[in-house]
Amino acid sequence: MKISVIGCGYLGAVHAASMAKLGHDVVAVDVDPVKIERLAAGDAPFFEPGLPEILAEAIASGRIRFTTDMAAVAGSRVHFLAVGTPQGPTGAADLTYVDAAVAGLVPHLSDGDFVVGKSTVPVGTAARLAASVSESVPGATLVWNPEFLREGFAVQDTISPDRLVYGVPSGAAGDAAVAALDEVYATTLADGTPRLVVDLATAELVKVSANAFLATKISFINAMAEIAEVVGADVTALADAIGHDERIGRKFLNAGLGFGGGCLPKDIRAFQARATELGVGESLDFLADVDAINLRRRAHVVTLAQELLEGAVAGKRVGVLGLAFKPNSDDVRDSPALDIAARLVELGATVSAYDPQANGTAARIRPELTYVDSADAAVRDADLVLVLTEWNEFRTLDPARVAGLVARPVVVDGRNCLDRDAWTAAGFTVRGMGR
Ligand code: UDX
Repeated sequence: MKISVIGCGYLGAVHAASMAKLGHDVVAVDVDPVKIERLAAGDAPFFEPGLPEILAEAIASGRIRFTTDMAAVAGSRVHFLAVGTPQGPTGAADLTYVDAAVAGLVPHLSDGDFVVGKSTVPVGTAARLAASVSESVPGATLVWNPEFLREGFAVQDTISPDRLVYGVPSGAAGDAAVAALDEVYATTLADGTPRLVVDLATAELVKVSANAFLATKISFINAMAEIAEVVGADVTALADAIGHDERIGRKFLNAGLGFGGGCLPKDIRAFQARATELGVGESLDFLADVDAINLRRRAHVVTLAQELLEGAVAGKRVGVLGLAFKPNSDDVRDSPALDIAARLVELGATVSAYDPQANGTAARIRPELTYVDSADAAVRDADLVLVLTEWNEFRTLDPARVAGLVARPVVVDGRNCLDRDAWTAAGFTVRGMGR
């Protein structure tokens, strides 16, 4: 099928390459000529395992084209909207890019085309955009097909997602949209992926409520960590024990520094803002606590670092391992790790930071840190070591060797990812989260 993808950020670039992988003819559009040039050359603009390979394959097969010219979408039957919806100044989602993408797309639509929203939007946006699309091109239909991809697993989550959700209008246009999307995702559906057909508002809500639930689960366990710290309990053992209850489940119960990234933090704030606009703000009041618990984890680690440095942070050397908001990513958007490192610099510490992938992205927004190119260099002569992202490279560090490099053997395990006994045996004072 001929497909267009509008927006080549994280979501759009992965989606475009994945659609080509599924055998479609794809034209991918973005307003940023630098991004388009890099993608056209097969150069993924961010670190995502598997993306370079499918991008190269798509380019070699001639099934993908990158352009800044919106007119190139003419002739595609399905047009995916994959532009960003960043957090605006009030916490609400900024829909500038979505509105601009639709306005730019409409002149190139034909009867029988489908505009398929993938971006995370406030509930009600799809109905508004659907009206504006059908007003200009009565034979075109707008539907919503939210994306649930996790960074680090983005290709896998696009090609083999847990589920497909189609938000469509009722009647013949909706039926035709379902048939078109079934054709787009034929391979995925043949693999047994569940597919749910719902109305537009439900599709929008599925996405934000899934993220709100995940954020709540993480903050729940971090709240337990706060209590465990006071009573001397072990939150990891607690998570293991409650996780055996199938109704609860062990996933997303890892206590630590909490959630960051380009989605969960902004999505729970935008969801609250939207609920307030709709007069049902109370329903999501709890998300303010979810956010507050999450942000308290960062403050807690800074306080812990101050304590471990005996109150005198200024002039002390802190080795920071990990800057990305999670492992297997170079993304530092709203990263707890980078936030903590920057706060310690503000307090006068000399921070040497190392991340296997995110040094470059971090340096762009936090030039005040000292970036080094290995874990050894980060911890050398450190008065305190902070492990802030649970990369495998850090999990498998040999504590005895690290003990030989540092000035003082003290480590904060911000992600509860180290073998505590091994580090203690190597002479370290180990402070975990909620343990
Ligand atoms: C998330 C959703 O998972 C995805 O479905 C949605 O489409 C986009 O947002 P992502 O931002 O890639 O994906 O990250 P995710 O793997 O969900 O992790 C989010 C954050 O939560 C990370 O900072 C991670 O370190 C943290 N986290 C996750 C925890 O602190 N504890 C956990 O148990 C799990």
